[in-house]
Amino acid sequence: NFGRQRGGSLSARHVLVTAGPTHEPIDPVRYIANRSSGKQGFAIAAALAERGARVTLVAGPVTLPTPPGVTRVDVTTAREMAAACWAALPADCAVMVAAVADWHVAPAEQKLKKGAGAPALDLRPNPDILAELAARADRPRLLIGFAAETEQVVAQAEAKRARKGVDWIVANDVSGDVMGGDSNTVHLVRADGTEQWERLAKVEVARRLADRIAAVLA
Ligand code: CTP
Ligand code: CA
Repeated sequence: NFGRQRGGSLSARHVLVTAGPTHEPIDPVRYIANRSSGKQGFAIAAALAERGARVTLVAGPVTLPTPPGVTRVDVTTAREMAAACWAALPADCAVMVAAVADWHVAPAEQKLKKGAGAPALDLRPNPDILAELAARADRPRLLIGFAAETEQVVAQAEAKRARKGVDWIVANDVSGDVMGGDSNTVHLVRADGTEQWERLAKVEVARRLADRIAAVLA
């Protein structure tokens, strides 16, 4: 697809993208989740593939079609997402867009019954896939995380970038109707400063980010 190409090509580059929520089961019929639709991550995978990258898209439970030319691996839980990411390495770049559940529980084998009283959920931390990826020997050369924030968006994203040891953080203002919607307000936080972006369609956020990635990797 040459029509869409802007800036450098990403051919011969492998990019890992995570997208969507994770679901953490509580019992056979219930789970912990979040409002991520997967739209932003899928749009990024599509934009990278349009530029010629080989893209592995590790997707949580979403109802979206696989973008053309993208290799998709479907997962449910954060621990499955971590394993799928490690299996996809090595990669030149990783864009971790997924809204990974921060906790899981040991699920009950049978459906919990309300007659037994409200169950206490014993929440245990999930692996931080992005932080673990940053610490690996086979860390991608360009490692990009998202930071979903509802307040002090850029300041929290800057702290998150340093704490997680990643190159760029896409600071995502998720107050309002971002989750599930078609547009997004993001800022690109790098070590040398922050680029403020206006509110854009998610597909346009994806194209701009692909531009920035291609400028580094091409
Ligand atoms: N992330 C991840 N694995 C997790 C949690 C988050 O890979 N278990 C990644 C997300 O995909 C995102 C980045 O880390 O790229 C930041 O996610 P976010 O939820 O904003 O940050 P947390 O570090 O989980 O902190 P908090 O939710 O407390 O703000
Ligand atoms: Ca989190």
